[in-house]
Amino acid sequence: MSPSEDWRIRVFDSLSFPTLILDTEHRIVAANRKFLERKHIPEEMQIVGKTCRDIFRNGHDPDLPCLRNDCPLAQTIAQKTGHSLLRQIRQEDGRTRWEDRVFSPILDDRGEVSFVIESIRDVTKTKQLEIMFQGISEFMDRVIQSSPSPIVAADRKGQVLLMNRAAENLFGYRVEDVPELNIEALYPVGVAREIMKKLRDDSFGGHGKMPMTRVDIRTSSGELIPVEMTAAIIYEGDEEVATMGIYNDLRERLSIRRKLMEAQAQVVQSEKMASLGRLAAGVAHEINNPLTGILMFTGMALEKLPPGSSLRKTLHCILEDAERCRDIVKNLLVYSRQTSTRKEVFALNDLVEEGLRLIRDQKLLMHIDIHKDLCRDSIQVFADANKLKQVMINLIMNAIDAMAGRGTLTLRTYRNEHRDSGCIEVQDTGSGIAKEHLPRIFDPFYTTKAPGKGTGLGLSTAIGIVKDNNGSLTVKETGPNGTTFLLELPLVHAAENGFPDSIG
Ligand SMILES: Nc1ncnc2c1ncn2[C@@H]1O[C@H](COP(=O)(O)OP(=O)(O)OP(=O)(O)O)[C@@H](O)[C@H]1O
Ligand SMILES: [Mg+2]
Repeated sequence: MSPSEDWRIRVFDSLSFPTLILDTEHRIVAANRKFLERKHIPEEMQIVGKTCRDIFRNGHDPDLPCLRNDCPLAQTIAQKTGHSLLRQIRQEDGRTRWEDRVFSPILDDRGEVSFVIESIRDVTKTKQLEIMFQGISEFMDRVIQSSPSPIVAADRKGQVLLMNRAAENLFGYRVEDVPELNIEALYPVGVAREIMKKLRDDSFGGHGKMPMTRVDIRTSSGELIPVEMTAAIIYEGDEEVATMGIYNDLRERLSIRRKLMEAQAQVVQSEKMASLGRLAAGVAHEINNPLTGILMFTGMALEKLPPGSSLRKTLHCILEDAERCRDIVKNLLVYSRQTSTRKEVFALNDLVEEGLRLIRDQKLLMHIDIHKDLCRDSIQVFADANKLKQVMINLIMNAIDAMAGRGTLTLRTYRNEHRDSGCIEVQDTGSGIAKEHLPRIFDPFYTTKAPGKGTGLGLSTAIGIVKDNNGSLTVKETGPNGTTFLLELPLVHAAENGFPDSIG
């Protein structure tokens, strides 16, 4: 043995992992000491000449690739490059070991494979750590996924890395959208940058953290949703590697708060209305008596005047104005609900017909197309029919006024099964109600009509009557093409309860 060969054998023997040298026929040429120890083989010569399959004694193991095309030894020989095979080995004591068998070709002067070195490394510890880490990571994934709070994480460039199910629901994206998604798309323009700025600002909840902050987020459909969010930068050492945000949808909370404020406003409004009603009723009573006198004495004076008297015209003017005053007083009394209510069962279609009949004669309707879209079967409601006629007249008169005498008036009746109600819609093709007027149209004395043309009591009277009958009166639609008022009354069997959320 030459000194250099001796040196090589010593290197081979002192390798700290079991190693074999095989020829291209898969036969063992040499085995190092570590290999013999591991396999409890006392003499190298006992295995030289055998195939590696013989040595590993599991020639019939279907998991071993020895007889298959993917045998790494065969591949190393064929491709002249290194290959490896990770094997899970069940030991006699029942424990599992992991081996990484690495095959490296030894090439001759012509570049052909003459031998292959197979070294076996025990990677059980690494593998166990890997399995444990995978378990932790899967567990963490499940924790994040099942969190009811929406969570989003993104890399340094804002590319979304993770979006849990709650976040998918909030933002309206699906899991397959995530790889294409940048954090900027989740907020209105500039907000994502603002959040990053706060995250890096020491004075804002500490470096890398953003405490609960109120922002709007943007969904996939472009809808803006109010949320509260906290955010953090995820560091590896000192380096920023990702950011994450946890959100809290505020829609429900804000809607409850809004409803509460509306309810408070309604209480204030109805108190205002009640005192206004008492005032109106008092004034109406006081005026009623002198007014009856004016009407009576003017009528008497007219009777006494000769037919050609120049005073007749003046007295007629007094009579007309006094009659107008009487109508106003009558309205005021209805508005302040000083008249009693008499409920009966009647059909909605009859109410519509009756309302129309009461104004049909007037020349007001001359250039108006009346379109009736009435429900075929009878919708029976229980309410004060007489007062509701007044409501119909007020709504139809308003529609006619809005169309300045020309247009289409549609009267529609239908049943709303869901709300147990009968509905009447009064639709016009008029000018519509301006946004700034809309909140006030049901207020008493609120009118946009010229002085002398309207008292502003029509809708406030109507809504008073409708509420007394457990119904609701609302503006269903309004715009440059016209307005639709919706009058809803409870069906006979629901009349006592009214609608749980009746408004207007
Ligand atoms: N169909 C409608 N189209 C457009 N605006 C309407 C309509 N109905 C009501 N309005 C608006 O609501 C205001 C209040 O209506 P309301 O019936 O209470 O009073 P009015 O019609 O002005 O006076 P009155 O009814 O005493 O003659 C109106 O002045 C008008 O501005
Ligand atoms: Mg009116």
